[in-house]
Amino acid sequence: MQVPDIIIAIDGYSSTGKSSFAKIIAKEFSFLYLDSGALYRGVTLFAIENGFISDDCTIDVPGLDKALNDLDLHFGENGTYIGERCIETEIRSLAVAGKVSPIATVPEVRAFVDKKLREFGASKRVVMDGRDIGTTVFPNAELKIFMTADPMIRAQRRAAEMTAKGIEVDIQDVLKNLQERDYIDSHREASPLSQAEDAIVLDNSHMTMEDQLVWLKGIISERFGC
Ligand code: CDP
Repeated sequence: MQVPDIIIAIDGYSSTGKSSFAKIIAKEFSFLYLDSGALYRGVTLFAIENGFISDDCTIDVPGLDKALNDLDLHFGENGTYIGERCIETEIRSLAVAGKVSPIATVPEVRAFVDKKLREFGASKRVVMDGRDIGTTVFPNAELKIFMTADPMIRAQRRAAEMTAKGIEVDIQDVLKNLQERDYIDSHREASPLSQAEDAIVLDNSHMTMEDQLVWLKGIISERFGC
């Protein structure tokens, strides 16, 4: 399928499979994939390790904002990096998941991440996933998808993913974490998670990845005549 030079924005709730879907899309259409959540997770790891966020999630906003000026957070061969250090495993831990949504409420952090994302998006042929890509980062994206799924199914998928990586988790802890994140993400003041008016909803509770790809190709051919 010959897909035109567009930006595909995928937003939605935690653990709905946005990043897995985005990666498949990138591979299928030779698009660049950008995981905006990984950047928020990277800032969170940096904040934890440097004492900018306490155990009860109090954030030293001025300190963090200043430190962001020198934070070399970027994507590399094996995922997300701070300088030379690959942080891909650490950013997927529950310790980071437990603090990322409070960190993502900070406008200074959002500005830092948005700037990086917009630089990447300048080239088009990009698929990006997050919470506010279609509403804030790329409001003019040619195709916007809003993903949702039943919470228990989402928790099961995420727990299976972590177990496969050798991380032991309790399904109730995972469910609690994703519900808390959904709540904070939807209720924060700065660019909350919300469905763009022109986004197409995809509830994938009972869909396979293959089903999703067929669904997407149908939409693309209908909309762009390819
Ligand atoms: O993959 P998962 O659904 O667990 O989340 P993620 O995409 O890795 O994002 C982690 C967290 O970063 C989210 O719960 C949000 O708090 C925040 N985030 C955001 O605020 N805006 C984005 N565009 C992407 C992520």
